[in-house]
Amino acid sequence: MRSAALIAQMSRSELLTLLRGYTSILTKPPPGDYEPANGLGFVRGVERLGVPVLRQTDGQMGVGDPAGNTPSAEATQLPSGLAIAATWNPDLAEEAGAVLGREAYAKGFNVVLAGSVNLIRDPRCGRCFEYPGEDPLLAGVVVGRFVRGVQSVGGIVATVKHFALNAYENGRMQQNVVIDRASAMESDLLAFRLALAIGDPGAAMASYNAINGDYATENHWLLTEVLRDRWQFQGWAMSDFGAVHSTARAALAGLDQESACEADRIIALGGMALLNGALPALRIVARVALSWMTGDIRRHAWFGEALARAVEAGEVPEARLREMARRIVRVMAKHGLLDAPKRNKTVDVDRHAEVAHRAAREAVVLLKNDGSTLPLRRNLNSVAVIGKHADVGLPSGMGSPAVLPIGGNAIRTGRGRLALLRAGVWVPCSPFRNIASRAPQATVTFADGTDIREAERLATRSEVAIVFVHQPAREGQDQSDLSLPLNQDALVRRVAAVAPCTIVVISCGGPVATPWADAVGAILCGWYSGQRGAEAIAEILFGECEPSGRLPVTFPKSLADLPRPQAPATSRGREGSSSPFDIRFDEGAEVGYRWFASRGLPVLFPFGHGLTYTRFHYDSLAVSCEGDKRLARITITNVGDRQGLETVQVYVENSGAGLASSLRLGGWARIGLKPGEAGEAAIEIPAFVFGRWNEYAGCWTIKAGPRRILVGASSRDIRLECVCDVEDATAPP
Ligand code: BGC
Repeated sequence: MRSAALIAQMSRSELLTLLRGYTSILTKPPPGDYEPANGLGFVRGVERLGVPVLRQTDGQMGVGDPAGNTPSAEATQLPSGLAIAATWNPDLAEEAGAVLGREAYAKGFNVVLAGSVNLIRDPRCGRCFEYPGEDPLLAGVVVGRFVRGVQSVGGIVATVKHFALNAYENGRMQQNVVIDRASAMESDLLAFRLALAIGDPGAAMASYNAINGDYATENHWLLTEVLRDRWQFQGWAMSDFGAVHSTARAALAGLDQESACEADRIIALGGMALLNGALPALRIVARVALSWMTGDIRRHAWFGEALARAVEAGEVPEARLREMARRIVRVMAKHGLLDAPKRNKTVDVDRHAEVAHRAAREAVVLLKNDGSTLPLRRNLNSVAVIGKHADVGLPSGMGSPAVLPIGGNAIRTGRGRLALLRAGVWVPCSPFRNIASRAPQATVTFADGTDIREAERLATRSEVAIVFVHQPAREGQDQSDLSLPLNQDALVRRVAAVAPCTIVVISCGGPVATPWADAVGAILCGWYSGQRGAEAIAEILFGECEPSGRLPVTFPKSLADLPRPQAPATSRGREGSSSPFDIRFDEGAEVGYRWFASRGLPVLFPFGHGLTYTRFHYDSLAVSCEGDKRLARITITNVGDRQGLETVQVYVENSGAGLASSLRLGGWARIGLKPGEAGEAAIEIPAFVFGRWNEYAGCWTIKAGPRRILVGASSRDIRLECVCDVEDATAPP
């Protein structure tokens, strides 16, 4: 094999070269057909043998470095990872991935640090926007297809992350997740397993946190027993940036590559810490200064000279060193990195914007629609558009996945990374203009909502008030609660009290609280909707296209109902401090809707929820056996007077088979129907949905017995059900 031949020719120091990364913030990357301004991290190659530099970019929402601030740094801003999951459309996820892959390639990268596949265990997680929701099947399928899209571009490798159970941002470097292994396999690891099987990514990124006492980067169970042996993963395991804590221990546990080391990361994190207040920033600065003085910074490259010494001392066998490098080179060979042709730098941004547009359209969830508030008529006389920056754009998430959208930031931010981090990225697609152009006879007015009285004045004079509210979110910091900042709840309440009709459009990273829901006529959830989000939202508001998004995550009624009502860490208390702390995931695999169902708790908007402008009738449920799978068939009829797209969901309830009560999404189908039209949804339910993970036997064990099959339009809107018997069986990992 080519990779084996290359490895055989490498000296020890050449092998080591492939195992250590740098950030281009501090170290100049080797020159190449590449724009270092956009660079995030890199790993040196072995030029002598034609093994190229690995040039990494983040990318869950597009290629990017928003602080690059040059037109060449601009990239198509895709809807967020959670928004893509809200489409429940794997084909579209794959198209979105291909947009990312093509743009990364055109900019000179060959490693894309996406897709993110962690489950949302807590709606306060600062990175909800990046993640694909709370169900492992939906998450794994959507991200798997996204990854497949990224890697459909020759010369590009994708990285699934953050492996694993990195469910909180606050104190992410100090947290030790405590969970029983079987539950981990049935939840977060199942999502990873599916994403790997479907997308076949070249790499997996080990997360910052520890799991059951061992950091992910040195967790033998996770990296070797599960990833490598059980799942037969052929790619390489890299670390998150600055996530490595040891040399021999990490290498022997199965980590193949250290991304940019901790010292680099500490400095990069300094900026983020500054945002959280002076104390963490000071701590970090002090820590960097100390490491600098003691020479610790060099030692922090655990896979640099330290690894050479560990091999020398026999602590890490030479064979393991070769294996680490071989895994990387093998992926490079497989994905065409070793013979990448000259890069074509032109990108068809219009075509890419069109994909982002479709994704946004399908992601928008109609949460509430009283009577026929929506769709709006085109012959309105007056509309008030209210909300921060709603005249110019819509927000996006911040942190490593942030992108400088095509057309640049819609708002002026002052100079430098810090100013940008504070102000955020606003995608230059104007809600105001997109609404105004659809109501040609109307007087359309705008208020940014800072002055609530002005907003009330406009709302009183208008037939319809459309209020754009937003929830900022960023990596490195969890939300303290789900309420909207900047007095926006009061804004909505006061507008709703005076306007004849109020519609709220939410741009958010994840679930939010809507204490004003009863006072408004309609609510749309647009997530971070990307390059053409405002246009997609306006199309849905005016009924030019049908709403079809479904919630991939529950909106809870109260934080008191969560498995951990009290967040395990506050950002100020933990980031920058070195004391480890435990987070118990006692809910196990009963994440999100499963948790709320098992406790009988009411929710604000359930998993799977999303209204349409028409109505669907469900009937004739039949479940048949196809090998070890089950196939559910349902007839769906559009009984309304508009066309529409229904996402039919199948859930399996495993209680009554000697199992603790557990509800599982078993599959779904999207079906578009004209008024009066009927169609059949055929949904395959994989065998593992009926079983529990048996850690001892290393497989899924299915116990014979009856199972309830529930079919509906959301996890709480069940229209049909039947009982199906399953036999004793096992299913592979
Ligand atoms: C994030 C990763 C990201 C890396 C490089 C880390 O802080 O957790 O997702 O790929 O930084 O930006």
